[in-house]
Parts: sequence; C-alpha cells; structure tokens
Amino acid sequence: MENLKETVMGRKSVRTFDGNPVSEEHRKALERCIEGISNPFGIPVEIVLMDADECGLSSPVLSGEKLYVAGKVPKKPYADVAIGYSLEQLVLYAWSLGIGTVWIGGTMKRDLFEKAAGLKEGEMMPCVSPLGYPAEKRSIKEAMMRKGIGADSRFPMGKLFFDTEWGRALTPDDEMAEVLELVRWAPSAVNKQPWRIIFKDGAYHFYEKKDKGYVSEAVGDMQKVDLGIALCHFVMGLEDKGKKAQVSVCNPGIKIPEDAEYIASVKAL
Ligand SMILES: Cc1cc2nc3c(=O)[nH]c(=O)nc-3n(C[C@H](O)[C@H](O)[C@H](O)COP(=O)(O)O)c2cc1C
Repeated sequence: MENLKETVMGRKSVRTFDGNPVSEEHRKALERCIEGISNPFGIPVEIVLMDADECGLSSPVLSGEKLYVAGKVPKKPYADVAIGYSLEQLVLYAWSLGIGTVWIGGTMKRDLFEKAAGLKEGEMMPCVSPLGYPAEKRSIKEAMMRKGIGADSRFPMGKLFFDTEWGRALTPDDEMAEVLELVRWAPSAVNKQPWRIIFKDGAYHFYEKKDKGYVSEAVGDMQKVDLGIALCHFVMGLEDKGKKAQVSVCNPGIKIPEDAEYIASVKAL
C-alpha cells in the first residue's frame, strides 16, 4: 500500500458518518481489495458486504452508516487471529480511500448481523465494521467514548516490545522502530493493546497478554483478533521496508507470565 505510515498513523475509528452511501467506484475498489486478502494461517476468511438499510442493521454507537463488512471463519484455532489479520487489510485500504471504519465486536445486535451475513453452523463472525464517509464532526457520544477509552494514546514501546526476555525493553534500530511504531498504533478492543513482542534469535515472537472478559463461544477470543491486527501491521510494515515477512507458529519456549499466550513468530528476510 502506498503511504502505509501515513495511513496507519492517520487512521482513527469512525462512528459518525455523513449518511452518504459508499460510491460505486469505491465499492468496486473495496471488492477488489477483498479478493486479494489472505492470511498466513491457511484459514479461509469469507468477507461479506451488507447493506445497512436493506438488512436492518445498526449499532448504538454509530450514526449515518449505510454499509457494513464482516468476516466469517470456521470455528477452529487461529480463526480469530485470521479475522483480525484479514479484515485489517481492508480497514487500512478503506482509510487510504477516505473511507472510515470501526471494528465492532460488542456494541451490536449480534444475531441480526449473523443472520444478514448467512452465518452457518460451525462458523463464527467475531466482528463487523461500518464502511462510510466520516461526518465533519464526531457525535457527542463518540467523542465521550473516545475520551473514556483513551483512544488517542497508546502504551510506550518499552511496555510492548522486549529483547530476549519478557519485560526487558527492546532498543530497535531506526528501521525496526518505524515498523514497531505501526504495531503500537494498531486498533484494539477497548484500546487494551494486548500484543507483546519478544525479539530473540532473529525472530519477533508475538504474545497475547490476556485481560479478563474477552472470550466467548460466539466470538472466540476478541484479544486474538487484536493480535491478528497487530501482526498485519507488522507484516505490512516489513513489506513496506522491502523485506519479506516469514510468519510461523513455532513456540520458542521463552518464559512468559501466566496470563500470556504465544501466538506466532515473524522473521524479516
Ligand atoms: C477487535 C475490536 C473490537 C472492537 N469493538 C468495538 C465495539 O464493539 N464498539 C466500539 O465502539 N468500538 C470497538 N472497537 C474500537 C476500539 O475501541 C478502538 O479501535 C480503540 O479505542 C482505538 O481507537 P482508534 O481505532 O481510533 O485508534 C473495537 C476494536 C477492535 C480492534
């Protein structure tokens, strides 16, 4: 993607839309983007667009949205990570076109969305997002929400990215600092930023630092969706630097706290 850094650093969740439908041209561009989306876990993610009015879809935190997107996956390990990784590619591309989104995993009538998307037995659809043009001004509800969550800030690098062992702050070179900055500014549920990375033996190992209350039958683990998003930013960041990212799931066995879980490792080639 052109201007990845600008896109990632400039993106904000949008909950207040201007009420206009997504233009034909933009819709086609989004559909082309969807066709090219993949994930490193070999999990088939089916991405569907749903017309808000036709399907009777809404969310108490949104206004003015006319279109939604959702990702459906078979319920199996890494389905939630794959959803995060896949849909975030669309989120960033949409923003580069001037189209706003917000990941929605909680504030919606889930059964209505699942019906509209034709969700089948054995599948799950952890999150949806509206797609539309941002209104000039955020609603008061949205402004208050952002403030409450602290949506405009993130943890410092040293709390998220470690050298060899959990908790020892990493001092990356300039190039990697830029890539990690893109991970730092990724969106996450309630802005909890549950990703931690340990750099060891030439690989970046991703971990989920779990908070309570994010796991359910319908959704899987919402914080694993966050991990997929973080991985997506990292891989896109490496590719933007002309590197190839090799993602694998091979636990290096580094000692981690009890509330943490290994997710994946990335080598920059
Ligand atoms: C997996 C996931 C689920 C989310 N669920 C909701 C939600 O249900 N309702 C909502 O208003 N925002 C939701 N958000 C948006 C976050 O609150 C938002 O990304 C975060 O506060 C950071 O703000 P930013 O996206 O503007 O940087 C979700 C984000 C993610 C990644």
